[in-house]
Amino acid sequence: DAVERGEFRHYMQKEIFEQPNAVAATLEARIGPHGVLPSIFGVDGDELLTRVRGVHIIACGTSYHAGLVAKYWLEEHARLPVSVEVASEYRYREAVVPDGTLFVAISQSGETADTLAAMRESRRRGYLGTLAICNVPESSVVREADLKLMTRAGPEIGVASTKAFTTQLAALALLTLHLAQQRGLERGRYIDLCTQLQHMPRAIENALKLEPQVIALAEHLIHRQHALFLGRGVQYPVALEGSLKLKEISYIHAEAYPAGELKHGPLALVDEDMPVIAVAPNGPLLDKLKSNLQEVRARGGELLVFADGEASLENHGARGVTLRINGGGDFIAPAVFTVPLQLLAYHVAVLRGTDVDQPRNLAKSVTVE
Ligand code: G6P
Repeated sequence: DAVERGEFRHYMQKEIFEQPNAVAATLEARIGPHGVLPSIFGVDGDELLTRVRGVHIIACGTSYHAGLVAKYWLEEHARLPVSVEVASEYRYREAVVPDGTLFVAISQSGETADTLAAMRESRRRGYLGTLAICNVPESSVVREADLKLMTRAGPEIGVASTKAFTTQLAALALLTLHLAQQRGLERGRYIDLCTQLQHMPRAIENALKLEPQVIALAEHLIHRQHALFLGRGVQYPVALEGSLKLKEISYIHAEAYPAGELKHGPLALVDEDMPVIAVAPNGPLLDKLKSNLQEVRARGGELLVFADGEASLENHGARGVTLRINGGGDFIAPAVFTVPLQLLAYHVAVLRGTDVDQPRNLAKSVTVE
């Protein structure tokens, strides 16, 4: 055990630091200077994908959050309508499936009972085809899918998923680019997105260097009972993932909200005992987020802001800290911003003395309903 963990104290920490290599492996021989290579979805895959007119993504847990990021990507760049749903809901719902819809199952293990059942159910519902994004080649989900795109994260031992998530994002980014190109995304933008994706491993590596600053932030959370995560746009699913990581391993009650919903409920909870962790987007939504943060500040809430190095954010005063992250570009920023949130959850859990790799009541793979 100690030999496998090497210099790291827990598998989770080791797996967080394996992300640059895991993402690089997932991209290897799939994307080059001229774009996504043909046939990464198999011989029949290219032809099937030209007929896609919409996408339904089904997953559980962290994999579901990866699907939510992909919704923003596929809609913006491939101009496809996308719905994302947790498998346990989808499988018992009478989903309406428009012609030309692709079913996408995302699963690290490929054995999650609800995801597998949802995929089996989808066979009855008239999809164009099924695509599995998965980390285990011999798993049931992969065996039963028409098309597959493997993440190459290697074995993930920590129950709280880390490198599986960022490699899922890398795979979903490849899917987005493939469909975007087929559907006529302007060439200059396409090449820009491809270049960003190729830099994802490097950008994640840079984000890992923030660990000392994140440890300092973790001190702010160790005695808290609750935490509120806010995000907007494609960073909203990142806020969801950050809050899931924190609750899974530190047992602090955490929830994530789209920042625009703050006034519709969670603001009632904000006082000096409620830290608010904001994942700040860059671009047009930043100004909107700033006004949301002002609401928090006015109520004495402590702010921890994860912001792009370029974002202009005023000082938060005594009750606030901003951590600057180089997001590596608008497309890959969700993957890069995830890393300090993983580290935050990890270090809060370590400081609180929980069983980081084996959190109580949770399982790595949920193979029963
Ligand atoms: C469990 C794990 C999570 C994981 C989820 C879905 O809840 O603890 O880390 O995200 O299952 O698993 P899958 O293997 O389908 O991605």
